[in-house]
Amino acid sequence: MNSYESLSDGRRPILSIRGGYKRFGGLQALENIDIDIYDREILALLGDNGAGKSTLIKAMSGAHTLDEGDIFFDGKKVQIQKPEDANRLGIKTVYQDLALLGPLDVTSNLFIGSEYTRWGLLQKKRMQQEAQSVLAQMKTTIKSLRQDVRSLSGGQQHSLAIGRGVFIGSEPRLIIMDEPTAGLGVKQSREVLELLKELGRKLPVIFITHNLEYAFEVTQRAVVLCNGRVVGEMKMDEVNHNQIVSLMMGVEQVA
Ligand SMILES: Nc1ncnc2c1ncn2[C@@H]1O[C@H](COP(=O)(O)OP(=O)(O)O)[C@@H](O)[C@H]1O
Ligand SMILES: [Mg+2]
Repeated sequence: MNSYESLSDGRRPILSIRGGYKRFGGLQALENIDIDIYDREILALLGDNGAGKSTLIKAMSGAHTLDEGDIFFDGKKVQIQKPEDANRLGIKTVYQDLALLGPLDVTSNLFIGSEYTRWGLLQKKRMQQEAQSVLAQMKTTIKSLRQDVRSLSGGQQHSLAIGRGVFIGSEPRLIIMDEPTAGLGVKQSREVLELLKELGRKLPVIFITHNLEYAFEVTQRAVVLCNGRVVGEMKMDEVNHNQIVSLMMGVEQVA
């Protein structure tokens, strides 16, 4: 594998993992993971089903803790043991399943776990105003903030989950999106990709996808996992589709 320094162009990583391991019972889900994410880049995290992509980003977002290994953020060693730890650092994750609560309305879903309160009371007006501003930033139109989220289209639900992940709570420093186009039609996927590109101009983004065309379109660099290990790291303009597929399938060990 290429050394990380060779692909960093002299930039300092915002987040790094060194020697990351995670085991589930008898299964080694992550093995000796070294990875760096740099400022203002969209990094594709690629790999076949079960390669360990979600487990790896969950170790960054506090949904899992690593069994072994160190995490560095802004050059400092950090402990990420629960979602609040990641949130405090500004690591914002949009999970594959979106984690929306169908029977609740748009505003409630945006502020789940981050509700504004004053003297023990919900500040509904303040949350509604901020909800409007988040939707505007997402260029998403929703008829009413009081609408149940289950009545929204798939694309609107994705926007909502992304808006919540990115804009609610602490200042975003790193955005992680796990399969944000899964289950979306072509038009809605395009909207998510445009949003991703826009975010990537301001912030580092980790983009997990099964769609290599999308990865080539929006990302500059890729890290490929296979059976819980990093098997390749490459600049997208220096590889082709087949080389990435071979790595994902474990056919080739060197990028
Ligand atoms: N909570 C869990 N308990 C047990 N096994 C898990 C758990 N999460 C993931 N795994 C296993 O770890 C491996 C990696 O899974 P995952 O990170 O979800 O892969 P990917 O996102 O690349 O498809 C898979 O074999 C999966 O079955
Ligand atoms: Mg996954």
